[in-house]
Amino acid sequence: MTAFNDSTVGNPDALRADMVRALRDQDAITSSRVADAFAAVPRHLFAPDAPSEIAYDLHRTVPVKKDEHGLDISVMSAAHLQAVMLEQLGAGPGMRVLEIGSGGVNAAYLQELVGPDGEVTTVDIDRDIIDRARLCLDNAGYTQVKTALGDGEIGVPDGAPYDRIIVTAAAWDIPPSWISGLTGNGRLVVPLTLRGTTRSIAFDRDGEGLVSDSYRLARFVPMQGEGAAKERKALLRDGVAVQTDDERVPLNTKALNHALGTPRREFWSGAAYDLPDELELYLTLHLSSPARLHASKAVVDSGLLDASTLLGVPALVSEDSIAYRTRRENEDTGGFESGVVAHGLQAEALADEYLKLLRRWAQNHRRRGAATIKFLPGPDPSTLPQNTVLKRHGIVAVSWH
Ligand SMILES: C[S@@+](CC[C@H](N)C(=O)[O-])C[C@H]1O[C@@H](n2cnc3c(N)ncnc32)[C@H](O)[C@@H]1O
Repeated sequence: MTAFNDSTVGNPDALRADMVRALRDQDAITSSRVADAFAAVPRHLFAPDAPSEIAYDLHRTVPVKKDEHGLDISVMSAAHLQAVMLEQLGAGPGMRVLEIGSGGVNAAYLQELVGPDGEVTTVDIDRDIIDRARLCLDNAGYTQVKTALGDGEIGVPDGAPYDRIIVTAAAWDIPPSWISGLTGNGRLVVPLTLRGTTRSIAFDRDGEGLVSDSYRLARFVPMQGEGAAKERKALLRDGVAVQTDDERVPLNTKALNHALGTPRREFWSGAAYDLPDELELYLTLHLSSPARLHASKAVVDSGLLDASTLLGVPALVSEDSIAYRTRRENEDTGGFESGVVAHGLQAEALADEYLKLLRRWAQNHRRRGAATIKFLPGPDPSTLPQNTVLKRHGIVAVSWH
């Protein structure tokens, strides 16, 4: 949470200036264009029911609408994430931009970035949200931003082609309209979920497909409508769940739960553990039968599973066994060493595959931005090339350099 001093409490202008300074300090804002946009937009007017301190907090979202289970389906995204994504987007004067998922404030930033000669359209699937966004935009003086009601899966063809498209809900796939709706050298920034983890990826159009060297971990409310994620989830026991978006992965609830009841085996890689988001991308693309293992704090406190499972960890599963990453302190280096915990009859074989990947990553790819991510649209291939994730509208292929 951002710390506020007495002079900023209840003073939106001072809070805004502090926010911009802090976003720069944390490298979320790296250009003066984005800094100017954040300095210009009265953010608190887009969260009229929240205290200004929360609206201007770098890392807090403001709830806007919840579903019948009390889960957020619309929030005002945190300033830090918005800044990172707008830097990835690179919107400039005169551009036409489409935002999918509305709230108002991000569209106002976009309007500042494209200036009076540019055009911003924002679309939301929920009438309450788009009506609210319209009201807030008008109140804040951004009457020129266009608002539309609809499923962002089909884009907003009326305004296409766009120089930039930015998606602000977690997408599981990239529908054709997001590529065909871009200009030849357009850019799409999308929080794309790969094997249970969402990253904001800045894709440049590359012919019929997309290519990216820019990806950052991000958390978002899920996309609704036609493009909603279809993942399999299995609750193994109270507080332990496994999920996967790979149809080939077996999720045998009973056998996997039984495996957890067998003694844990620990294996150590001797390799360094850091840059968890980079390592995770590598693991999930290379594990032969990947899933994501989550455990509650109570389960971790009981000693059944390691703390690495608290936020979800890449797991390798077979019919009756499971292996996942762990870490321990390395006294020699002062850092951490990666390792594997495995349960079940095939514990050793699964750990062996997992350890090889931990070592290969540490040896060859242990740095920021080592991956290039491509989206190749088209029908299901009969055989899936290595290091790819199959989606409904194409495949995601990742290469490391
Ligand atoms: C995190 S909020 C958007 C935040 C917003 N961009 C801001 O300025 O802070 C995500 C929004 O995506 C919307 N959404 C979800 N699925 C959608 C879809 N298929 N098409 C358009 N909007 C969608 C939700 O209704 C929700 O309002």
